[in-house]
Amino acid sequence: MNIVSLIGARPQFIKEAIVGSELRKAGIDEVLVNTGQHYDANMSDVFIEGLSIKTPDYNLGVGSGSHAYQTATTMLKLEEVVLIEKPDMIMVYGDTNATVAGALVASKLKIPVAHVEAGLRQHPKDMPEEINRVVTDRISSLLFCPTEKAVDNLEKEGMTKGVHFVGDVMYDLFVKMRESLDISTTLSNYSLVREKYILATLHRDFNTDDRSRLKNILEAMNEVSKKIKVVLPIHPRTRKAISVNGYEDLIKDIIVLDPLPYSDIMSLLIGSKKVITDSGGLQKEAYFAGVPALVMMPDTGWIELVEAGWNVLVDANKELIVDKAFNHEPPVNAPENLYGGGRAGEKIADILVGSGM
Ligand code: UD1
Repeated sequence: MNIVSLIGARPQFIKEAIVGSELRKAGIDEVLVNTGQHYDANMSDVFIEGLSIKTPDYNLGVGSGSHAYQTATTMLKLEEVVLIEKPDMIMVYGDTNATVAGALVASKLKIPVAHVEAGLRQHPKDMPEEINRVVTDRISSLLFCPTEKAVDNLEKEGMTKGVHFVGDVMYDLFVKMRESLDISTTLSNYSLVREKYILATLHRDFNTDDRSRLKNILEAMNEVSKKIKVVLPIHPRTRKAISVNGYEDLIKDIIVLDPLPYSDIMSLLIGSKKVITDSGGLQKEAYFAGVPALVMMPDTGWIELVEAGWNVLVDANKELIVDKAFNHEPPVNAPENLYGGGRAGEKIADILVGSGM
């Protein structure tokens, strides 16, 4: 069996780290294609090296641009690779422009698509990631769901064939990496003390590209930082937005870092008091790490954590962010087994082998 896997943005490198190694163990040949959507070394190479991902067989060099540019350029360049490699299946991850581009190329060439992290749904329905998820799921043959909720979401839309609850590959990776983390050393490298800081991330376009939402969020973080340190590993999009809007003053008391490698951000996460984020991955990794998260979105694909009282939706509401930063306690008994048993990658490989492609 021969699979083309498509990665391109930071969260996909993380998912590939697990799935790629399980495919190898199962004897499946994987051709790895990197779209190059994330091109800065600290957004890409550092993950490929740090997580022992195989060197991509192709780099499409797509880089930045409008959604149409990224999606269309990925499609054109990927099609050339697929025509050469003639895979039995194309595997796509998550909800980025690479995800939808890969699914479209495959389905037009009548090659089955496997979607890892299928079935997530959230508002606003016009956010790019949501559009990418809905389209990708609709044209996928194998839908690997990270949660039972994701299976239900697909069923509501009439999709039951090829749907598998496998658990979350990001949980697999967290479990695998946790033992090797040297948390004390990492915290002291960043001059941080356990539970004496809040870890924040911010990169969604509806937060960074909307001047008033961005201002609310930065003012809230600035307010919070008067009482507890706020550490913000910054996404390039956010750095640019702060500079364009002249909001530098709002981050002068925040500890702003470059984007971090996986092991560093996981160590900072485990050591933190709380997380404030609009990242899909980090709000869930916070729960893996036993830390509650304030989610700066109107809704989330990981709604089970909000329903369990572990995370709280604060959107871009300044007062709510400040209030919950100090007044949100997670339940004493954490919800259990929401994301499978840490063997999602293995289950995906088993299902692929059993599919007889
Ligand atoms: C993308 C994904 C999102 C994922 C996120 C993780 C889509 C629609 N969104 O969003 O689902 O959560 O990645 O980070 O695909 N830039 C750099 N260097 C880089 C990468 C980006 O400077 O290595 C800058 C570029 O100016 C670019 C901007 O950041 O225009 C945004 O990057 P982009 O790839 O458009 O989307 P992300 O916000 O990273």
